This record gives sequence, C-alpha cells and structure tokens, in this order.
Amino acid sequence: MKKIEFSAEYIEYDDKMDLSSSDKELMSLAIEARNRSYSPYSKFSVGAAVLLDNGKIVTGNNQENAAYPSGMCAERVAIWTASAMYPNVKVVKLALSGMSRLKLVNTPVSPCGACRQVLSEYESKQESEIEIFFTGEEGKVIKTNSVKDLLPFSFDGSLI
Ligand code: THU
Repeated sequence: MKKIEFSAEYIEYDDKMDLSSSDKELMSLAIEARNRSYSPYSKFSVGAAVLLDNGKIVTGNNQENAAYPSGMCAERVAIWTASAMYPNVKVVKLALSGMSRLKLVNTPVSPCGACRQVLSEYESKQESEIEIFFTGEEGKVIKTNSVKDLLPFSFDGSLI
C-alpha cells in the first residue's frame, strides 16, 4: 500500500482586465455569448469561447429545456460546435464566464464535471493541452494550463 499525492496548479488574476489583450478578447467573446444564453429556467447564463489552432474562435452558451436534463452547458455547446466545424483543428484555449440573473456572482464559475470530462477527451484526441480561463460576472479569473488540473483521474478512451 502506498499513499500518493498529486497537485494541480492554477493562476489567479484579480480581474479580467489583467489578462493579456488576446485572452481578454477571448473572454469578451465568452461574455457576449453568455449574454445570448437561453436559460429561462435557471436564470444562470454561461458563455464560452474556444480558440482554435487555425485562429478561429467558436462560441457557445447554455441552452436549457423544459425537460430539464435535455439542456446543455455552454462549454460543451462551444467545443462540440468547434469539433463539428473544424474536426481536425486543435483547441488551444477556452474562456468561460457565468452569471446569475438573480444575484451577483463575483467568484469564478468553474466548468461542471461533465464538461471537464468532455474537454479532457479533446486533450487526449489532439495530444496537447487546452488552457482554460473561467470567471463569474465580475472579480477573479482562474486559469489552468490543462483540463488535467481540473480533472485528475479522468476516464481515458484508450482503455476502451
Ligand atoms: N452550466 C453551464 O453552462 N456550464 C457549467 O459548467 C455549469 C452549468 C449551465 C447549465 C444550466 O443551464 C445552468 O448553467 C445552471 O446549472
């Protein structure tokens, strides 16, 4: 028996204005997408913007449904759209912003577990890491260099 420890690392920015100009632009596009979210049930709007290796940016937002589980998160809408449009182009970065229309969210909104698993699939497929930036309506932005920092022990398709 042995005890093994692992660590994750992330960078914390006090505000989105502290991001580099290109990362700020990616986050602005995520925020614009967030403001087009279809979320009449939760009133929680999420937007994501994915930067691809060919320079294209694809955005997505959460899409809800009266049959609640039939809805979809912003991150998966964005990355699946990117994969549908540019199937062989690597994903370099993903920016995410979430806000409630009922209260102020001033802490970072991190990707849900299912989205982490989906993002991890694309890291495995493309054999390179995806930088993830996430924030709330205002306040800090967290950046990880890889989905691995958010999801240790992801299920890996190579096992199948
Ligand atoms: N949501 C996302 O879009 N991404 C996440 O990572 C977490 C949650 C959406 C799903 C639902 O429409 C709303 O936020 C409230 O859970």
